[in-house]
Amino acid sequence: MKKAVCPGSFDPITNGHIDIIKRAAELFDEVTVLVVTNPDKKCVFSPEERCSLIEKAIEGIENVKVDSFSGLLADYVKQNGMSAIVKGIRSSSDFEYEFQMALANRSLAPNAETVFITADPQNMYVSSSLIRQIAGFGGDVSDFVPKNIVLEIEKRLK
Ligand code: COA
Repeated sequence: MKKAVCPGSFDPITNGHIDIIKRAAELFDEVTVLVVTNPDKKCVFSPEERCSLIEKAIEGIENVKVDSFSGLLADYVKQNGMSAIVKGIRSSSDFEYEFQMALANRSLAPNAETVFITADPQNMYVSSSLIRQIAGFGGDVSDFVPKNIVLEIEKRLK
């Protein structure tokens, strides 16, 4: 059984993330969407809120589950027998940053491969901070996040 992890801050989850998660679910037997801490970021949504939004956003995708972890991604990967770390790449600047993390994770967890999936062009400009900014000013985020979590995000960020 090939298990993969899609890690991220997901503050909040966007259509860009969902695209990558769905495509990872086609490639692997089981995919865990993992809410992890990026020490360089201060998140607006709590880990519990982010997990709950992801649970709703992935409703209906059979082989995908949600978890959270507050340590090193490499440790989670080893503890849970993951074969791959899946990341989405939107641009060459994403790649620079992701490449560094992939090399570090390869050294820390040599049995897991980092797999890059190129973002759908439609989602190239979508990011969690964009969603937070639009919703924070009372704007409509329905084009950028799954329909069943739009109201919850808008209400929370307004
Ligand atoms: N489509 C659209 N947007 C996407 C996207 C996609 N496919 N993939 C990522 N993004 C966006 C996110 O929305 C986020 O936007 P923001 O900066 O506006 O908030 C941005 O890209 C970065 O994504 P994020 O989820 O914050 O993850 P990250 O790339 O910063 O991931 C962690 C870093 C959390 C995975 C990493 O810090 C980690 O592994 N932490 C655990 C501790 C650890 O092991 N550290 C050592 C790592 S070697």
